Amino acid sequence: MRSACLSLLLVTACWALPFRQSGFLDFMMEDEAGSGVTEAPPGLDIPFIPEGPKCPFRCQCHLRVIQCSDLGMKEVPDDIPIDTTLLDLQNNKITEIKENDFKNLKGLHVLILVNNKITVIHAKALSPLNKLQRLYLSKNHLKDMPANMPKSLQELRIHENEITKIRKASFQGMSNVIVMELGSNPFKSAGIEAGAFADLKRVSYIRIADTNITEIPKGLPSSLSELHLDANKITKVTADSFKGLKNLAKLGLSYNEISSVENGTLANIPHLRELHLDNNVLTSVPPGLPDHKYIQVVYLHANKIAAVGTEDFCPPGFNTKKAMYSGISLFSNPVPYWEVQPVTFRCVFDRSAIQLGNYRKK
Ligand SMILES: *[C@@H]1O[C@H](CO)[C@@H](O)[C@H](O)[C@H]1NC(C)=O
Ligand SMILES: *[C@@H]1O[C@H](CO)[C@@H](O)[C@H](O)[C@H]1NC(C)=O
Repeated sequence: MRSACLSLLLVTACWALPFRQSGFLDFMMEDEAGSGVTEAPPGLDIPFIPEGPKCPFRCQCHLRVIQCSDLGMKEVPDDIPIDTTLLDLQNNKITEIKENDFKNLKGLHVLILVNNKITVIHAKALSPLNKLQRLYLSKNHLKDMPANMPKSLQELRIHENEITKIRKASFQGMSNVIVMELGSNPFKSAGIEAGAFADLKRVSYIRIADTNITEIPKGLPSSLSELHLDANKITKVTADSFKGLKNLAKLGLSYNEISSVENGTLANIPHLRELHLDNNVLTSVPPGLPDHKYIQVVYLHANKIAAVGTEDFCPPGFNTKKAMYSGISLFSNPVPYWEVQPVTFRCVFDRSAIQLGNYRKK
C-alpha cells in the first residue's frame, strides 16, 4: 500500500518536470520492468516463456517500438502488440483511421502518422490511447482537427493538412499540451475561434505559420513562451493581442502585412527577448522598445520604415544602463542608412549587432 502511494507520488512529481525534447528511443528504454507480457498464466508455477512478441508483417519490432514506415501500407495493421509504446507508420498510403485501429494500445506513448493520405480519423479512434504523449499527423489530408484527442497529449504536430477551422471544442481539457505545431493549414481568415487555446494551461510553444490567418488568435494561454505566426496575412498588432502573456520570450510575425504595432503592445509582454517583424509594411519602429527590459533581438528589415528617431531603441540620455540588444536589423527600408544617427544605438554594447545596410531604389 505504502509503495503504491510512493510510486503515485513519483508519477505526479514526474509530470511536474519541465518538458524535455527526448529522442524516440527513450520510449523503448522506459519501464522495462512492469510490462506484464511474461506473466505466468494462472495455475502455472514455472515462469511462462512466450514465443517472442508478435510483429506485424514486414514491420520491425524491437522492445516495444514498432516501425512500419515506408511500406506502402493502405491501412493500419491489425496485429500490433498491445504493449507497444511507439508506433511509427509514417510514409505510407493510409487513407483513413478507423474506429478500432488503436483499440488495445493502452500503453502507446508516441504515434507517428506523418506523410500518409489520411482524410478522416474516426471520432472514437484516439479515445483508447490514454497514455499518448505525442501525436504526429503532419502531411496528410485532414479537413478537421481529430476529435477526442487524449488528455495526456503533450505534443501535437498537425502541420501541412487541409484544416480550415479550430473550434473552441478542438482542444478542450488538453491541459498537458506543451508543443503545438499547426502551420500550413488553410485556416480561413477568422478560422480560429476565440479561446480555442484557453485550456492549454501548460503550453509553451505554438506555431501557426503559413496559414493566411488575418488576425492574431485571441485568448492565448499565459504559459506561452514561443509564438510563431510568420507568413500569414495579419495586418495589425493591437496592445490587447498579447495581453497576459507574461512568459512570452519569442514572437515571430515575419512575412505578414502588419502596418502598425499599437503603443502598449511591448509593455504587455515584459519578458520578450526576440521580436521578428521583418517583411511587413511597418512605417515606423514599434513603440516601447526603450522601456523594455529584456528585448535582445528586433528584426525590422524589409519594411517601409522611412525614418528612425534617436529615441526609438534606447532610453533617453547617455547614463542609462546598457541594453542587451544582440541583433537589430533595419536594412531594406526606405530610410537611408546615413540618416540614422549613430546616437540612436547609444545603449547597444556591440555595434556589430546592428544591421543597417543599404536601401537601393529599384
Ligand atoms: C495562402 O494564400 C495564398 C494566396 O495568397 C495561397 O497560394 C496559399 O496556398 C494559401 N495558403 C494556405 C495554407 O491556404
Ligand atoms: C506610449 O505610451 C506611453 C505610456 O502610456 C507614453 O509615455 C508614450 O508617449 C507613448 N508613445 C507613443 C509613441 O505614443
